[in-house]
Amino acid sequence: MKEKKNKEIKILLGVTGGIAAYKSAELIRLFKKEGFKVKVMMTKNATRFITPLTLAVLSEDKVFTSLFSQDEEYEEIRHISLAHWADLIIIAPATANLIAKIAHGLADDLLTSTVLAFTGNIIFAPAMNSAMINNSIYKDNVKYLLEKGYHFIDTEKGNLACGDYGDGRMADPVNILNSVKERIKKNFSLKGKKVLITASATREPIDEIRFISNRSTGKMGFSLAEAARDRGAMVTLITGSTCLHDPWGIKTIHVNTAREMREQVMTYFNDTDVFISSAAVSDFKPAHQFAGKIKKKEQHSLNLELERNIDILKETGEKKTKQILIGFAAEVKNLKENALDKLKSKNLDYIVANDVSREDSGFASDTNKVLVIDRKGRETDLPLMSKYELAGYILDNVQHNFENHGNGIVL
Ligand SMILES: Cc1cc2nc3c(=O)[nH]c(=O)nc-3n(C[C@H](O)[C@H](O)[C@H](O)COP(=O)(O)O)c2cc1C
Repeated sequence: MKEKKNKEIKILLGVTGGIAAYKSAELIRLFKKEGFKVKVMMTKNATRFITPLTLAVLSEDKVFTSLFSQDEEYEEIRHISLAHWADLIIIAPATANLIAKIAHGLADDLLTSTVLAFTGNIIFAPAMNSAMINNSIYKDNVKYLLEKGYHFIDTEKGNLACGDYGDGRMADPVNILNSVKERIKKNFSLKGKKVLITASATREPIDEIRFISNRSTGKMGFSLAEAARDRGAMVTLITGSTCLHDPWGIKTIHVNTAREMREQVMTYFNDTDVFISSAAVSDFKPAHQFAGKIKKKEQHSLNLELERNIDILKETGEKKTKQILIGFAAEVKNLKENALDKLKSKNLDYIVANDVSREDSGFASDTNKVLVIDRKGRETDLPLMSKYELAGYILDNVQHNFENHGNGIVL
């Protein structure tokens, strides 16, 4: 894996209207010293705290403060071009107002419109009075944004501009720089890699309105797709039935049956670096699909003949050349034995074994408790964690593999 050089990385700094805006000048200086390319956008209120001229001089570029060009002539769609330009957006300082606006999807100025149009990582470095930071509305907004995959750099305790002592100071610019560097390292860890993921449950039709399926919701697969996207990978997500919205920045393909899922997987598989099969594909399907709707008055009972379904993961295991292959095993007992069996029989590199009998793990839950086993039989029993965190753990292993062995050779 080749890491991007700093000078190739484009940081878009958003500055909002708080006293800590003066620290953004130092932040720009630090970013430039590290070799990053920096562009700055400011809210109207931010310009009351620090002049655009100061930030323009430090960033050696024009500072953007308005959605519209000053002479009303068409130049470009500024918020879209800035969103396309940036690799990462950091908003420092981020006011309570800005955070509330983003949490509610508002786009009434350049900064908020650009944030909404951006598909990469967004980091907030908030700064505000401690009463504001402890306000439950503010806390709810932060919680919501964290769940949506936005990142926050914690505020620090100290003397505040208002004279109070407490939590709410914007993190020190050096700490912000380090957090940004850390995020960038993660962001580009799978840059250029193609990751194919299946999610959710397939539906196998009985007649034209009924089907057999299972309880998988797609949450794990979607988290994997988001975590891979956040590491810079090109992600294709093939999902069965789900209530989840298509994640931004990810090519999402919807299918119904295992056969449809297989067709899509095989379309992308050869050109894929990593294939993660988290979909719960029906092991059995009705041997015949009835035409129309089976009417209950026509029969007292109904015998359904089920037959074995196709095995997508097995097929990819046989076709595997360079791909890293990761499967999931949903089990209610003999977790390890069954997972090991699946790992070997399907030629996988990793198996993620899920005890789906637990309430806080497996289908529909936001958390997962799993045992990961690699092809050499090495086991990692992970604690309960969010599905996004687990996705990060899995992908960090994949990255480690690329760094040490390149494609094809695992562990
Ligand atoms: C002197 C002064 C300091 C302020 N400091 C902060 C602050 O640190 N954090 C904050 O959230 N709001 C602060 N505010 C309030 C914001 O400026 C206000 O909410 C404004 O609407 C923010 O606009 P913006 O988010 O579009 O930049 C301050 C206001 C004043 C007058």
